[in-house]
Amino acid sequence: MEGNQIFNTIEEIKATLEVNEKRAVELLSKELVPCITTGTEKRTRYYTTTNMIGHTKKYIEIKMGEKDIPHTNRDIFLKEPIDEMMDEAITDPAVVITVTNQKGGVSKTTNTVTIATALAMLGQRVLVVDLDPQAQSSTYFNDDSFIGRSIMLLFREYDMNKDNITKELVESVIHTEEGISINGKFSIDILPSELRLGRTMEAIARNFGSHKALSLILDQVKNEYDFIIIDTPPSPGLPLISSMYATDKVVLSAKPTQKSLEGLEMTIEEIKDFNREVEKETQMDAIFINEFNPILNHHHRLLEESVGHSRKIGIPEEREFVSKLAPTIFETSQEAKVSILDYLEKPKDTLAAFDPFFRYASYLVLERVEKAEAEKSMKKGA
Ligand SMILES: Nc1ncnc2c1ncn2[C@@H]1O[C@H](COP(=O)(O)OP(=O)(O)OP(=O)(O)O)[C@@H](O)[C@H]1O
Ligand SMILES: [Mg+2]
Repeated sequence: MEGNQIFNTIEEIKATLEVNEKRAVELLSKELVPCITTGTEKRTRYYTTTNMIGHTKKYIEIKMGEKDIPHTNRDIFLKEPIDEMMDEAITDPAVVITVTNQKGGVSKTTNTVTIATALAMLGQRVLVVDLDPQAQSSTYFNDDSFIGRSIMLLFREYDMNKDNITKELVESVIHTEEGISINGKFSIDILPSELRLGRTMEAIARNFGSHKALSLILDQVKNEYDFIIIDTPPSPGLPLISSMYATDKVVLSAKPTQKSLEGLEMTIEEIKDFNREVEKETQMDAIFINEFNPILNHHHRLLEESVGHSRKIGIPEEREFVSKLAPTIFETSQEAKVSILDYLEKPKDTLAAFDPFFRYASYLVLERVEKAEAEKSMKKGA
């Protein structure tokens, strides 16, 4: 079986996956991650692709205790079936998502890169924006140093004269990374960072309107992408407020530690204060809590408190993603320069790792489809 598939019922997916065994069917209906449903009760359709079917199959097989299913090359492009459903490509400007927490080392960069990869695997056009002078997400796929060819140049130009910010200039510092997947080709664009960005940001922070710089920069290329994901540094100040000004949604990164919780509280406070100041509503969209160890009592307490905060600011329960994985699988995949979503040395861990990211990416894509559908029917009605 090749290419994209559109299924009308879960029965059709079951038939495609050739699962009949009761437990496998149960797993499929409860835990089928890479499947997107949309439409009204009358018209529910499932969009999936060979790649997603392959992963799902593997997931079920592993859960069922059989481990030797070969992984074949597959392409994955969810975009086409979505476009087909919509009769045309979605042309809305990109949804901007900021991944943040002022505490360091709580998976902001890993989450940014993996959400971006999951979206790209779903056929979405994705730009990763690195606002961290440490430039971790810039170098994730590419070891280059981006000295003189980074977002710093754009901030400097903005500071000299904001009319200098043109689409051509922004595009001149965007780098495209391709072919990191063993499942087929997809690409992710990166607006990279460099160490000197820190000083530049500090220098322009006091200038009037500097918080609007990033927003103006992203406006130039918003029509070229479906999603723009911003990785932030573990500190307050201009990077955080300029991303808050530019963003539609916030994703919180956390770990079950006291410091992470403090960082979360401070970040939420700062976002609230800033939103009040500029009269802006930012959607607090999801929280990823990693390295949760259920045998530790204090992890349960810290998890509860973190989730308490996220619920208070409106993050729905289905967008709390708690992972029990140890960092090893992430570290080894990073070392191998392979996205965690394609790191099949340890397929069980990989599948556990990819689950929350695909689920979140699926929500995002679905939301975008539904919004476009609603706009279309409003236009028709008007
Ligand atoms: N889902 C996860 N489960 C377990 N470990 C993870 C997960 N995501 C990332 N890690 C590990 O956590 C460590 C820190 O990750 P990362 O660099 O993404 O954090 P960060 O918040 O971006 O850090 P900084 O604040 O320094 O930018 C890394 O060693 C990474 O491998
Ligand atoms: Mg980081």
